[in-house]
Amino acid sequence: MMSTVQDAGVAHMPRITVVEAYDGLSQRAADVVAEVLGEKPDAVVTLPTGETPSGMYKELVRRITSKELDFSRAQFFCLDDYLGSTPEDDASLTRWLRSEFLVPGNLPEGNIHYMPTTAEDPDVAAAGFDREIAELGGFDLAVVGLGPNGHIGFNEPGSLPTDPTRVVDLEEATLSQSAAYWDGKATIPTQAMTTGLGTILKSRRIVLIVSGKRKAEIVRAALEGPSTSDVPGSWLRQAGNRLEVILDREAASLLTIK
Ligand code: F6R
Repeated sequence: MMSTVQDAGVAHMPRITVVEAYDGLSQRAADVVAEVLGEKPDAVVTLPTGETPSGMYKELVRRITSKELDFSRAQFFCLDDYLGSTPEDDASLTRWLRSEFLVPGNLPEGNIHYMPTTAEDPDVAAAGFDREIAELGGFDLAVVGLGPNGHIGFNEPGSLPTDPTRVVDLEEATLSQSAAYWDGKATIPTQAMTTGLGTILKSRRIVLIVSGKRKAEIVRAALEGPSTSDVPGSWLRQAGNRLEVILDREAASLLTIK
């Protein structure tokens, strides 16, 4: 069952969709991806890694395999990864993405734009990444998750809504979150390259997916607190009705607008 807490009836307001549980979140996120590709088969998209999008990827792979969804013409941009890491490293978001989605979803290699994490000059490469996105007309869709410290991509606290794709220092909270992805067995680089909030905010559609009780407080801060660099997720509200926030009941549990 799905309810829209705060609908796009008010033109400038983000749409907040609350679903009962995680499965509904994955289905709704996959529906939005399918909608965007249905309207524009060669859409330019960026999708996140992490625990939250796992179910969405399973559903996307299922739809691609059953030919309900054609992802073969989409331009796929990786959202973020650790600086210097390659898919051969233990800690690699790109490796995770390859095994969860890019390979089983059979995306043509030529349509995948990897984070230039090993470039000789990462700053120049990051600017080139933004240029590539702009040359393709910008993102049609950016799906993002919310970090325990309010980060979007790896736009950590302190990030501005105008920030470009760049190299960033990772906070302690993000390093321990990352370590948990690999059961503490991988060494996590202390820097990363992330698609900038500025690049994300230019997207024609943005979807923020958040699940679980442990994110309820940061969801409240991002959606109902002040717009501030302390909680980078709060900048997403600048996208107005281009933003849809998909939450399960637990993640939405501390919101006052219900
Ligand atoms: C990962 C990313 C991060 C995650 C966020 C939530 O590519 O961009 O911002 O989306 O840290 O992570 P999970 O889903 O693991 O809670």
